[in-house]
Amino acid sequence: MIRRSDAPPAPTSDLLPAVPLLALDRQYAALGGEIRAAINRVCDSGKFVLGPDVTDLEAELARALDAPHVISCASGSDALLLALMALDVGAGDEVVLPSYTFFATASAVTRLGAVPIFADIDPATYLVDPVDVSRKISRRTKAIVPVHLFGRTADMDALLPIARRAAVPVVEDAAQSILSTWHGRCSGMLGDVGCFSFYPTKNLGGAGDGGFLTTTRDDVAKSLRLLRVHGMEPRYYHQVIGINSRLDSIQAAVLRVKLPHLDAWTSARQANAARYADTFAAYDFAGRVAVPGDESRGRHVWNQFVIRVGEGRRDELRAFLTKHGVGTEIYYPVPLHMQTCFAHLGWRKGDLPHTEQAAEETLALPIFPELTAAEQHTVVARIAEFFGARRRAEAPAQTAQGIKAPHVVRRFVGKADDVRC
Ligand SMILES: Cc1ncc(COP(=O)(O)O)c(C=O)c1O
Repeated sequence: MIRRSDAPPAPTSDLLPAVPLLALDRQYAALGGEIRAAINRVCDSGKFVLGPDVTDLEAELARALDAPHVISCASGSDALLLALMALDVGAGDEVVLPSYTFFATASAVTRLGAVPIFADIDPATYLVDPVDVSRKISRRTKAIVPVHLFGRTADMDALLPIARRAAVPVVEDAAQSILSTWHGRCSGMLGDVGCFSFYPTKNLGGAGDGGFLTTTRDDVAKSLRLLRVHGMEPRYYHQVIGINSRLDSIQAAVLRVKLPHLDAWTSARQANAARYADTFAAYDFAGRVAVPGDESRGRHVWNQFVIRVGEGRRDELRAFLTKHGVGTEIYYPVPLHMQTCFAHLGWRKGDLPHTEQAAEETLALPIFPELTAAEQHTVVARIAEFFGARRRAEAPAQTAQGIKAPHVVRRFVGKADDVRC
């Protein structure tokens, strides 16, 4: 264990003054002309809701994900709500899901009068723990919602048999995991319904809100198409009570410009993750920082690169990085079972220990596709500076200015058949 006072300061003289958490302007700089032309085309057509661009986007996504049915909607939050509605989840039902996720995973459940039953996570992956899921199943369980958090697919080998035994459907929250795979199949195509988000921070982000669903089930696809338009078929005749959740044509047109680049952007995220692993390994953090590994049985798409910070110093590190212009985020500071709005459900601190610990220790670093090697070096060197971590003797010297040629990185992804869906 290195005592902080023994460690020489990390070299900081050549570090960059700022590294953003996300730089969508860089993506826009490359595609802005095409995006503006696509928006103009929609304006000229006068078709602003659903329409040909939406139909074409759904077909293109179906091809990219090898999905028999793609149904677009107004947001990832709505996708979750629509999925549970299509599966007839209602008052008094229980839905098992992780507490360590974005709020929408649980609010979709409560909006239908059902009860979220929170399961703990695997502390190594932050993904829902199948053993705890199986413990939380009851006679009232109506669905299981695993979340493919940060771009990595949940342990579907364990979860799908649990759902089969309980005879309940699986709704995949794939908002952060577009193009991730499990044994060669795309997330969203592993359970009964997949729910995706086009929120701008996602790997395929629009110019505003949007989302979509995937399913292999014809009956569910039919319900979803009906539910997203107020249950209306034909016009002004309502078969069921749905919601208004249609994708705008402008969003679809923008997303159609971006979709052909998604595979390359995903590879760039993977390369950045591998470069982080190499760069962190060049310092001796003496166990105070843990970087995410990738032992997933498929393609991890790295929507987020989340480190774990020990010694109770996560917030202090974040403040230090902010002071030095490095953007970070905490996903998520308050687990859902500890949220004020769910206090009536009766969960207590200590109920989900791995979730609660993750909420106190995790920190997301920049991982977007256009991130440069110099920027990554700056991020890691600042973290090393904070901890007084020493460079390992055998590591080649690396400076922000020194990394000019593309850094050769170790690929994280395993099997060749998993590289594409
Ligand atoms: C895990 C997860 N689920 C659901 C959502 C909801 O998606 P949206 O913001 O498009 O409503 C998000 C997006 O933030 C998410 O990260």
